[in-house]
Amino acid sequence: MSAGFVITVDGPAASGKGTIAGGLGRRYGLPVLDSGLLYRAVGVLLQRAGGDLDDEAAAARTAAALTAAQLADPEFRTRGAGEAASRVAVHPKVREVLLALQRDFAAQPGGAVLDGRDMGTVICPQAPAKLYVTAKPEVRAERRWRQLTGQGEAVSLDEVLADIRRRDERDAGRSAAPMRPAPDAVLLDTSEMTIDQAADAARRIVEAARAG
Ligand code: CDP
Repeated sequence: MSAGFVITVDGPAASGKGTIAGGLGRRYGLPVLDSGLLYRAVGVLLQRAGGDLDDEAAAARTAAALTAAQLADPEFRTRGAGEAASRVAVHPKVREVLLALQRDFAAQPGGAVLDGRDMGTVICPQAPAKLYVTAKPEVRAERRWRQLTGQGEAVSLDEVLADIRRRDERDAGRSAAPMRPAPDAVLLDTSEMTIDQAADAARRIVEAARAG
């Protein structure tokens, strides 16, 4: 991989982008940024401090105080954290605070893989390889339901599907960095794919971008 190669992997909740980003990172020896974890951390830490998710200034202060050491908390992987993340992610000031950190990550000399909603549109629009990973809502709900119940959360498949639809709508409908494919992103629908098939397809997209 040539120096400074950046791969962006965007898409809606539970589309498989995290797995794909991780696979690409291992394949090309690149560090992977899970940008959703930053928003999850801001949401959970704000709630833990008794703050209001709709309070933009308080959420921005929480984002500004975030440290790398705080990011390992397993609570950030819960169902409630996903919802809290999407609520603080609508605030332009929160996104602004987290912007430099994400751009710095992308600017590492060897390059990086960036996983999120606005990696290809806002954080790194000049990235040479951009993927937009999707899957049908029902398929995504089932994947997320398996993950959450595997973590010990008691939740029904219908509840997870409702969560995903609500979050997609909020993420795509917000005015600050809405979730959408960059104009030059390659769409990858993983609805009918196994993890291995999706990883292979992603690799082929990146190889084509490197060659072109
Ligand atoms: O794993 P999942 O796809 O469910 O979520 P995530 O990638 O951890 O992101 C959680 C939430 O953070 C999303 O629903 C978005 O509202 C927000 N987010 C964002 O606004 N911008 C990003 N670059 C990444 C996440």
